[in-house]
Order: sequence, then C-alpha cells, then structure tokens
Amino acid sequence: MKASEIRSKYLKFFESRGHAVIPAAPIIPPDDPTTLFTSSGMQQMVPYLKGEPHSMGKRIVDSQPSFRSEDIEEVGDNRHTCMFEMLGNWSLGDYFKKEQLPWVWEFLTKELGLSPDKLYVTLFEGNDFVEKDLEAYKIWQSLGVKDDHIFYYPGKKNWWSRAGTPDQMPVGEIGGPTSEVFFEFTDVVHDSKYGDKCHPNCDCGRFMEIGNSVFMAYVKTEKGLEPLPAQNVDFGGGLERLVAAVNNDPDVFKIDMFSSLIAAIEKSSGKKYEGVYMSPMRVVADHLRAAAFMIAQGTEPSNKLQGYILRRLLRRAAVRVRLLGADAKLIFKECIPAIVKEYSDAGFIDASSLDHVQAVVIAELDKFGKALDKGLKEIERTDINKIDAQFAFNLYQSLGFPYEITRDLLAEKNITLDQAEFDKIFAIHKEGSRTASAGMFKGGLADQGEITTKYHTATHLLHQALYDVLGSEISQAGSNITSERLRFDYTYSGKPTAEQIKEIGSIINTKIKADLPVVKTIEDKKMALESGVKAFFADKYPDKVSVYRIGDYSRELCGGPHVERTGVIGAIEIYKDESLGSGKRRIYARLK
Ligand code: SER
Repeated sequence: MKASEIRSKYLKFFESRGHAVIPAAPIIPPDDPTTLFTSSGMQQMVPYLKGEPHSMGKRIVDSQPSFRSEDIEEVGDNRHTCMFEMLGNWSLGDYFKKEQLPWVWEFLTKELGLSPDKLYVTLFEGNDFVEKDLEAYKIWQSLGVKDDHIFYYPGKKNWWSRAGTPDQMPVGEIGGPTSEVFFEFTDVVHDSKYGDKCHPNCDCGRFMEIGNSVFMAYVKTEKGLEPLPAQNVDFGGGLERLVAAVNNDPDVFKIDMFSSLIAAIEKSSGKKYEGVYMSPMRVVADHLRAAAFMIAQGTEPSNKLQGYILRRLLRRAAVRVRLLGADAKLIFKECIPAIVKEYSDAGFIDASSLDHVQAVVIAELDKFGKALDKGLKEIERTDINKIDAQFAFNLYQSLGFPYEITRDLLAEKNITLDQAEFDKIFAIHKEGSRTASAGMFKGGLADQGEITTKYHTATHLLHQALYDVLGSEISQAGSNITSERLRFDYTYSGKPTAEQIKEIGSIINTKIKADLPVVKTIEDKKMALESGVKAFFADKYPDKVSVYRIGDYSRELCGGPHVERTGVIGAIEIYKDESLGSGKRRIYARLK
C-alpha cells in the first residue's frame, strides 16, 4: 500500500466518525518561541487540550509533517527518519477510551488489513497518582486481543507529556497514560544482546511502535497531578512506519515515499542500496527529504536556529554522497522533484516551489563544497596528535565545517573527539541569538509565558502599523518570538525611511497606551478573509477559524494566546529593520 493511500484512508475513517479534518501546521511553528520545529501533531492542539474551544469542534483529525532534530544522528538504522508524518486524531473533552481503542483496532485490522496476531498493545502500570489502566485492558480484551499480546509498562514508556514522565512535567503541563500498538516483524530474530526475552519495547527490531493513544486527562499542579476539566484523547501514528507494517518489511526506506529517492541515488551513484545499518543512502534520502520540505515552506540555510539545522541536514547529506563516491549536485537534483511532488500532492507545499528548492540546495552545495575541500585539506595536513575538540571547533568557526563531520572522518582514523570539550568551547563562543535559543534544541515546551504573550499581541499591532504606514503591499512572511524580543518578516520592495519606522513605533505605543481590549471570536474562514482579516498562511487554517481583534485597530486570524488588554504590554521600541533580500525585510522590537 502507498503512504498516500494510508493517509487518505485514515482521514476518511475519522471524518466519517464525526471528526473535522484540519490542515497541518507549518513545519516551523509561526508563533511558538521555544520550539524550533513542529515535532508532533498535538503541538498545535495544546491550547484546546487544555480546554480552550477549538473552532472546528471537539473531534479533530489531521496528518502532520513533524521534524525531530534530536533524531538526526539516529538516522541510518531501518526505522528512524528525522522528518515523518504523524497521523493524529483528537477528542477534545468528547469521546474517550471505549471509542478510541476500538477505532484504532478497526483501522489497523480492517482498513489496513494488519493481522491481529502481529499486533501487541501496551498499557500504563500505574503510579502514586494514577491507577493501573485496567479499563483499557478490558477494552483490548473485548476486541479479541489475547492476554499474551498485552503488556504493562511504567511511566517511562506508557505516559506521555511533552516533558516526559509525571515527575518531569512542569506545573501547567498536560499529560496522561498511553496505550501503544506495536507491530511484530516475525522474520526478525530476537537478538539476546537486548535481553533474554523479546517484548514490544525491546530494541532488537522485532517490534515497531505504530500508534500511540494518549489519554490526556491530567495537568501538573503545585500539588501534583490533577484531573483536567475534560478528558481528552491524543492519538499519533507514524505514517512511514504504518506503511512498513503493511508491507511487512521493517525497513522504512523501502516504502514508496523513499523508494523513488533511493532509486535516484542508486542511478546517480551507480551503487546498490544495501539496507545496512548507517547506510549513507538512508541518510541522504532522509536528510534531503526534510531539507527540501523546509525550503519549500520558506526556510533558508543559515547559521542560526532552524536555518542552522537545515544547513546541517544538507551538509551531512553531501558528506554521505561523498562517501558513496558520487556527485551531490547530481543526486540532489535527481531526488528533489520526487520530494516536491510527494508533498505537494499531499497538500503540504506548493508544486511551484520546485525551482526555488533546487536553487537553494545548489547554492548551499556550492558554498559547502569550498568549505569541505578546505576543511579536508586542513585535516590532511594537520599532525594527527593535534586533532582535538579545539581543532574541530576552529574548523567549524573558520569554515563552517560541521563538528560531526570532523568527528565522523576522524573516527575513521581511530581518533575520538571529546564532545563535552567541544560543547564547552562552543558554549563560550556562541553568539547571543543562539544562547537565547539553546533550550529550543531540546525540543522544549511551548512557552505561553507572560512576556511572549505580550510580544505576540504587539506583533499583531506591528503588522497592522506596517500596513498603515508602508501600504497594502506589505504582507507577513514569518514571525518569531522569544522572551527577549519579537521578530517579524514582511514583504516590501522598498526600504522604509527612519521617519516611517519611527511612525510605526509610535502607532504601536499609542495603541498600547489606549489599553484596547483583545477579543477572540470563532468565524467562518472564507467570510473572515473576505472581510479583510489578516492571515499569515490562509490555506493552513481550517474552515472555521479564531480571529483576534484588538479594539477596532487590528483583526488577525490566529491561534493565540494574547493579552486581554493592550495596556499590560508596556512601551515597545523597534530596534532593527533589515533587508533579507528578494523583497523581504525583517523587523525587530522589544520592550523598553
Ligand atoms: N502526542 C503523542 C505522541 O507524540 C500522540 O500524538 O506520540
């Protein structure tokens, strides 16, 4: 079965059970300052799981391209991909276990035709606050799941929150016990190095997790875990892994989404895909797919934040191509059209982005080719005893030569670099903006803190003020908020004068002083857009949308959160406005 068939079967299955299909969030969340990437389907659902009403109702379904930068180095085995699609369905205080588990079962066994014998389920064994999940046990049993296919695990495996186990959850974080489904690849022989007995969470490769139902019913408070006002369901299932299960082949790189890329790499390199651990072809296919997707959604390689991760992906892929003894430009050019087609057919990106993606990738390769050659020469001519963390840092600093590439190349020469030492040197040198974002690399929590909320409302005021002063040509091209400042990208062919920037700042401050109310309403998307409500990604919002109004000054389509009145924001100053090239500009403001 093809990935696209499974995706559409899933959406239809839940749609016919009363769920509204919503568009995926962009891979870079527009208003979430503490996480670099959308890393799960539930990320855009957090406010609604906490109790805010969703514009599309209480039953939601989608397919969410998700990126996990912490998995980059895992890529190369048969199951990790740093970008994947997460099929998700949610009950927002509506149905619970007795509907969810039978639906999951029906979808897997009837719609996808997976044999019940090969499916295993896991449950939460309980802790001091939340009891052992006997209710879900009974439901699985009633569906015909045999006792020896049901396993209990502690919180480390069967509790889900963005922060991890209950003790790791900060106050305000939501979570709950889970029930996961695993597929057994019966041809894979258990490796006793992973333990005497195989079981669903064993790492030997015989079992693969294909779905996770989180019974999101708790919130952490000062007192411990307490029940949320409503019981929610948050389901996530990895599309690529589901295809692998349906194919009964544990190698996710053999699914249709990857096979055309692997074929293109085979053709251009003249080598055969071997499907072995850390196969360079897997790394190339995975990294290029994620990179092309990000570029198509507007990210550019750079030395900061998401742009840095994108750069790392392309450079890591280019180095692997070198290991294949092939030409990166040739291989990338051959693969990119298939990636753009796959994801534009799925509605996540525009087919017209193809030329742009090719151009950005080639420009990056040109830049990197020079750095790579210089770096390799430097490594060649340096005394082997002098190659250490400081040396790796110097190469990174002067040439942008990635640490992990130095590490990999030297590992071949039996040199082990001291990662902690490199991190220490790096930490001393890293620039301010990266310091501010360091926590984000851990995939952190969505920070809906007081200051970022103020900046979010101020961003709406800025958007409208730019429009008023510079004219209707301007439109939003991006936004990023940290607790230190707000940043807003916009399209504008000219260069605003100092007076215009001053005027924009003074409009914002007047609106703040006026203490305008900020009001949210749920509206029909089409009507809202026709009436002139501002929207960043109009096509990325569902049919019913939440609109935030600031007095009668600004109206914007947005998921929030915002302050209740502008007065609480305090005075703002614009401290930078710069060109990003090709008709785009970036403006920064902060609290005075
Ligand atoms: N939030 C859960 C996960 O990421 C289920 O969607 O696994």
